[in-house]
Amino acid sequence: MSDASLPNLPPAPTRSGTPLLSIVVPTFNERDNLAELVRRIGQALPDTAWEMIVVDDDSPDGTAAAARALAQGDPRVRCLQRIGRRGLSSACIEGMMASAAPYIAVMDADLQHDERLLGKMLPVLQHGEADVVVGSRYVDGGGIGDWDAGRARASRVATRLGQMALRVRLSDPMSGFFMVKADAVHDTVRALSGIGFKILLDLLASSPRPLRCREMPYEFRRRAAGESKLDGRVAWDFLMLLADKTVGRFVPVRFLMFGVVGTLGIVVHLVVLALMFQVGDLPFVWAQTGATLSAMTFNFAVNNALTYRDQRLRGALQLARGWFTFVAACSVGAAANVGIANYLFEHDTFWVLSAMAGVAVGAVWNYAVTSVYTWRAR
Ligand code: GDD
Ligand code: MN
Repeated sequence: MSDASLPNLPPAPTRSGTPLLSIVVPTFNERDNLAELVRRIGQALPDTAWEMIVVDDDSPDGTAAAARALAQGDPRVRCLQRIGRRGLSSACIEGMMASAAPYIAVMDADLQHDERLLGKMLPVLQHGEADVVVGSRYVDGGGIGDWDAGRARASRVATRLGQMALRVRLSDPMSGFFMVKADAVHDTVRALSGIGFKILLDLLASSPRPLRCREMPYEFRRRAAGESKLDGRVAWDFLMLLADKTVGRFVPVRFLMFGVVGTLGIVVHLVVLALMFQVGDLPFVWAQTGATLSAMTFNFAVNNALTYRDQRLRGALQLARGWFTFVAACSVGAAANVGIANYLFEHDTFWVLSAMAGVAVGAVWNYAVTSVYTWRAR
């Protein structure tokens, strides 16, 4: 697993101006790190034809403008500015697809990844010894720097989960620092989930053939300027990526989530019904109506916060519109549910089966219609 055995190879010849290596750098608010990053990469790869593709999600701090200013003075730098989009993995994918080089690296902008590794990764790929070389914090010689105990533990748990769920044998499948053969990316790109932060894990789990990996140790450094974007959402996206790469092959993960939320809605329904009917002494029909609306509102809110987190509706107007379409769709779904269940029951189907068929049709209807009318991709 170590690179010590490699002979010192001269850089492969390339036509000048044609990059051999594209370094994809996703950015969000990294304005003050870019110039130093370019300087360090230049120092680390003096004899390699490299280019840097900055993929910026329209950072409010003006990272894209800073990248373009750098590009004016250094043609090796390019900037891909995405408008109205967010996402580390999807940024990396689009950066990789904008490259014509045979080798592609991905690294963070904040100087936490050791750029000196790039010069060791490249010859391993050039000599066909691996398809991917991963900068690892968890092999001998690597390290996580001065992370606090909480983040260190979270990282270990996530690493273990990733290894188990996706059956990858890397010590650090969560790494955001790696180099890969462009062919491997092109063969995999349509199968990628593109969710969240973990583009390497996504690549390894989505590739049609197992990718040969090599790990190289490095010490994760302290972030230079700016702050980390790692938050609760990143953890959630990680679970969604795992789900998509495992059960997602058979059922869309969103539909599963929708089903889980719907099941919780039944509990809400029964609790509200009991409160209104038993405790509040309301007529049954009112209690049932109140419970139904409560459950629908609960389902709408939770689906909006979790299932459709990436397209969440915000603001009074969007929420009101969303709630209304959701309730309308689910009301039709309930009618279809009862209608079909009743039809089957009257045609000699066992009552439990009739009910389950009704529920299944209702659930699919609700999911399909609300995905278009409530959370249509804007
Ligand atoms: N385009 C784009 N869009 N870039 C983003 C986004 C986004 O939504 N979110 C973060 N980035 C960029 C940051 O600007 C930075 O260059 C890089 O992605 C990593 O983000 P950080 O916020 O610095 O993440 P981290 O340091 O906590 O975690 C990193 O290191 C871990 C260990 O290697 C990431 O690379 C993780 O994926 C990795 O596991
Ligand atoms: Mn970072």
